[in-house]
Amino acid sequence: MIQIQDLSFTYKGEKKPALQEINLSVPEGGFLGIIGPAGAGKTTLARVLTGMIPHHYPGNFYGSARVKGLDTVDTSINDLSRLVGMVFQDVESQIISPMVEDELLYGLENFGVSREEIPARIEEALQSVGISELRERSIASLSGGQRQKVAIASIIALKPRILVLDEPTGELDPRSSRQVFSLLKVLNEEQGITIVLIEQKIMLLCEFTKQLAVLSEGRIVRQGETREVLARAEELQELGVNCPRVTTLSRILSARTGEEQPVCINTEEAEAMIRRLIP
Ligand SMILES: Nc1ncnc2c1ncn2[C@@H]1O[C@H](COP(=O)(O)OP(=O)(O)OP(=O)(O)O)[C@@H](O)[C@H]1O
Ligand SMILES: [Mg+2]
Repeated sequence: MIQIQDLSFTYKGEKKPALQEINLSVPEGGFLGIIGPAGAGKTTLARVLTGMIPHHYPGNFYGSARVKGLDTVDTSINDLSRLVGMVFQDVESQIISPMVEDELLYGLENFGVSREEIPARIEEALQSVGISELRERSIASLSGGQRQKVAIASIIALKPRILVLDEPTGELDPRSSRQVFSLLKVLNEEQGITIVLIEQKIMLLCEFTKQLAVLSEGRIVRQGETREVLARAEELQELGVNCPRVTTLSRILSARTGEEQPVCINTEEAEAMIRRLIP
């Protein structure tokens, strides 16, 4: 579904490439988490997937990025936007309407969705994010978390086949963050939407994603099955990526017991490991 080959990109006027020799592929129906320290190039990679790079951000672009077989350089932003929906890191810059309903309406009208279909699409999208009651509210009256949900709903309403989210839970409390992740899981599993999720909340990433890629200084330094990537916790820590405590626990217990313990990625697995060790 997504294929990036030997991609390097340097923003115009910059010396240092923001991305270097990126190779990445995400199958149809994949759920990829991307993590990495500030300035690693995560947002830049998201812009590549939506075609904003190179169409809106000029610079030196080498290699290729394809979504559903389309080369992002040769495909118009308009065509790409029907395939790839993106929720921006900076929600404020994404929302353009003063009212919640209008924000969703705007995208649907732009996409030429029929008048008859629009109300149901709006209701369905708001409901899936759990904010039906906000439909008639003004954006100005909403909290940061609510705005983030509006931004997500307005993209979901467009039914993209690929959804790219750039730190979508940054403004959300733990409960709402989990709600968003659960929603993404449903979209992924029930509608087969391919998801690329940039996120700092490692515990949620390991619970929900199938694959994980770690970005550092513009390069992908680790990628693979989420569990395999987390198994190399020490290397991640050196890169400035915190590991979940349950993963650290399996590492400590491996050292203490002198016997290799399985890598745990959630509390249930950690509990099972401890019960095995303490009869
Ligand atoms: N529009 C731009 N013009 C020039 N340089 C940019 C632009 N956007 C980002 N950069 C630079 O590209 C590099 C990667 O930035 P990017 O925003 O992709 O990182 P990030 O991993 O998303 O960081 P954060 O965790 O802070 O969101 C940084 O050195 C940044 O300064
Ligand atoms: Mg970013």
